[in-house]
Amino acid sequence: MLLTQSCNTDTTFDTPELDAELGRLISSTAPDGSNSLDFYILPDETDLANIPQDFEKNPLTKAKVDLGKFLFFETAIGLDPKGDGMATYSCASCHIPSAGFRPGTFQGVADGGIGYGLNGEDRGKNSSYHPDSLDTQDARALSLLNVAFVENTFWNGQFGAEHANEGTEHLWNYEEQTWVNGLGFKAIEAQNIEGVEAHRMLMSKNIAQSLGYKEMFDESFPEYPENEDTEHGRYSRETLALAISAYIRTLFSNQAPFQAWLKGDHNALSFDEKQGAKLFFGKANCSKCHYNEHLGSNEFHALGVNDMHDRPAFSTSVDDRRNLGRGGFTKKAEDMYKFKVPQVYNMSDTPFYFHGSSIESIEDLIEYFNDGMPENPDVPLSQISPKFEPLGLTVKEKDQLVKFLEYSLRDPNLERYEPEMVMSGGCFPNADTLSMIDLGCM
Ligand code: HEC
Ligand code: HEC
Repeated sequence: MLLTQSCNTDTTFDTPELDAELGRLISSTAPDGSNSLDFYILPDETDLANIPQDFEKNPLTKAKVDLGKFLFFETAIGLDPKGDGMATYSCASCHIPSAGFRPGTFQGVADGGIGYGLNGEDRGKNSSYHPDSLDTQDARALSLLNVAFVENTFWNGQFGAEHANEGTEHLWNYEEQTWVNGLGFKAIEAQNIEGVEAHRMLMSKNIAQSLGYKEMFDESFPEYPENEDTEHGRYSRETLALAISAYIRTLFSNQAPFQAWLKGDHNALSFDEKQGAKLFFGKANCSKCHYNEHLGSNEFHALGVNDMHDRPAFSTSVDDRRNLGRGGFTKKAEDMYKFKVPQVYNMSDTPFYFHGSSIESIEDLIEYFNDGMPENPDVPLSQISPKFEPLGLTVKEKDQLVKFLEYSLRDPNLERYEPEMVMSGGCFPNADTLSMIDLGCM
């Protein structure tokens, strides 16, 4: 008995003093000043009224969320490819639920990609495509978990007219897709109106009808003119983007053990995980930047990590403005190399971290923060965040922090956000021949 206890110290759950101490610590960090743990409790995905949304221009309804749940995975709307990839890709090619709504590889590929594996990890390039014709980006895809809490989307925060983007109107243009900020929608909706086009999808009355979505569009968007096949019609890229936006706003990691602990189930976390939480919200400084409901924030910081072009990635460049972070959008010297603070739930579902996928395990990620030493020589030291500094964690503490990220912050049931089928009956999230074999569609 004694022996097993000393071998495995991580089987203790009944720790009332530690729970009380942790409760006080986490409450005290709530940025709304409520001094309450409730701040960090994520909404229930069916409680639509209490989910952050665009109440004026895209209020959440069950009909819209259900429609978006199909369309996010629907390969049959991938009708504008730059090669022979017709109807083989979807939003979920790069935002895979079982991969934490991120790609299974270090760089997502939609149009022009082939293969899936078990979790998206085998996705490669269709040999008939020139690398520059692929739908890939010069940065790792952000997770869509808890995205309803994101104020300005993208690593550089370029989307959305509000928050950090107030006063940036002069920067909105067609070349960088930021014209959508002038449409009056919130960041997610605005980005996706551009995004469905960037990701080569089409919608029209004929398409909606032939795939079996017409009635769902009618129910979701009665206020949009039915017979106008224009960009503001009922079956358009705009309504396509609004339905998908409604759906992604409902993606919450609310079944993560840490969420259960916040709601009072003190057995949901082990002793080591609780110590890890104490470090996250305390000595390890994580919550100095990761402090909003989704454990991310709308601050921009330079950690000096490597870029995507430092890897053998498709169609990347040292000159891509995505390497400059916020500065690539604002062009201001003070914003150069600063990236938005992302959410940190379900990080263990795919082993690639930071905007350039430069780190490949949670252990190495914690080492990076513990060392507080930038790895990218292109980033001037003067830009590095003053909140990024050596932490002096012990081996034990690093291990506890890893356990907190790996287990406490992992919702094990993200499959609930996947539809059982899509209306076209096609394979999803990909429908190229290799993916169809991997996914068991043929
Ligand atoms: C080819 C891969 C790919 C596809 C397909 C794709 N995305 Fe993304 N997504 C990305 C990448 C990469 C980023 C980060 C880009 C950046 O910040 O520079 C991203 C970021 C996002 C974000 C911002 C999240 C945040 O926290 O700021 C949202 C929202 C999003 N995608 C939604 C979608 C939707 C909806 C679709 C389908 C219309 C889609 N994506 C299709 C790769 C993809
Ligand atoms: C100075 C602010 C700051 C501090 C302190 C900080 N982070 Fe971050 N974190 C960021 C930023 C900014 C990024 C994105 C950096 C990039 O990709 O260029 C990030 C990225 C991450 C990622 C990767 C997310 C992804 O989608 O790839 C994880 C995980 C993470 N942080 C966890 C932590 C943990 C754990 C701690 C405490 C040890 C911590 N962070 C401390 C700002 C911070």
